[in-house]
Amino acid sequence: MTLYASRIIGTGSAFPETRRTNEDLSRMVDTTNEWILERTGIQERRIARKGDPTEFNSSLGHRAALRALEMAGKTPDDIDAIIYATCSPDTLVPSTACWLQQKLGARRAWATDINAACSGFVYASTIADKFLRSGAHQTILVVGAEVLNTFVDWQDRTSCILFGDGAGAAVFERTEADNPRRILSTHLQSDGSLWDVFHTPAGGSALEVTHDVIERRDHKMKMKGKEIFKIAVKTLADFAVRALEANNMTLKDLDWVVPHQANLRIIEAVAKRLDLPMSKMIVNIERYGNTSAATVPTALDEAVRDGRIQPGQTVLCDVFGAGLTYGSMLLRW
Ligand code: UT7
Repeated sequence: MTLYASRIIGTGSAFPETRRTNEDLSRMVDTTNEWILERTGIQERRIARKGDPTEFNSSLGHRAALRALEMAGKTPDDIDAIIYATCSPDTLVPSTACWLQQKLGARRAWATDINAACSGFVYASTIADKFLRSGAHQTILVVGAEVLNTFVDWQDRTSCILFGDGAGAAVFERTEADNPRRILSTHLQSDGSLWDVFHTPAGGSALEVTHDVIERRDHKMKMKGKEIFKIAVKTLADFAVRALEANNMTLKDLDWVVPHQANLRIIEAVAKRLDLPMSKMIVNIERYGNTSAATVPTALDEAVRDGRIQPGQTVLCDVFGAGLTYGSMLLRW
């Protein structure tokens, strides 16, 4: 018998100050505001200032975490674990989670990073849910945060228009298994055979960053946009159905979908495929672009704080990312 479940009791988000508009991008690569807006729905994104310690990944994560803790009515001392989803860590070692632990002074916690690219927040949340359901922990801080601008190829107009920096956080708490307001299910799946539709060739142990690598720009992200687009629409729709079926629910039971924000047209295509109105899709891509692991927790935070998401409503977080990775988390708020 399962004794416990988990629920989110606080959310928070934070973004760098600097806005980069489509007009700004049109001065960097051969593109236009009209093209970006029409093909992606993005108007602007935030870019962390290089070398500014107040805008490191862990610093944005810190600001988001403090807001989430405040909403949750918790202090850093309450945190048993910090699970930090990112593919743009402050440093390879220590983990960004440990940098955040130090900033928070969360002395009791263990802390680790999870890299599932844009799916990271749902992967990290799933791990948190399992630790809480097992009874091992009481309170877990989950962060999804990126400073992607270091890894984006600002000379490649087919990818650079999409990405931005930001951080979102959620405080998960153990609750009774029969609490209606809980995580209802999580589903994860990866397909490593599709690694080449989105990858960064160099910078890991497989390929060191050398002068040649830099000249080939192999230290920057490579993306096959059209291919990912098709896979994303199919898998986001499939994972929504899978989550609902696992809970004996139908699409009518869904109040909100918080999809990964990679392209507004992907979100629209998923809504169409599922026959859901766009008014149920929570979207913030126009202001922030694709912030990878941060898209879902920041959009969730926004909708919680502005009162769209109300207690008792059913919310689906639905994601895909490099790997490729896919996942969903269905919850009752
Ligand atoms: O979590 C991240 C995972 N990544 C994604 O989910 C990305 C998913 N894919 C996409 O969002 C879209 O495929 C893109 C936004 C990347 C591209 O949009 P598209 O509608 O698929 O454009 P396309 O690649 O079919 O290109 C159409 C045309 C091409 O010109 P020709 O060959 O028709 O003459 C491109 O060269 O648009 C051109 N183009 C651009 N033009 C102006 C490509 N990028 C740009 C640009 N500005 N930035």
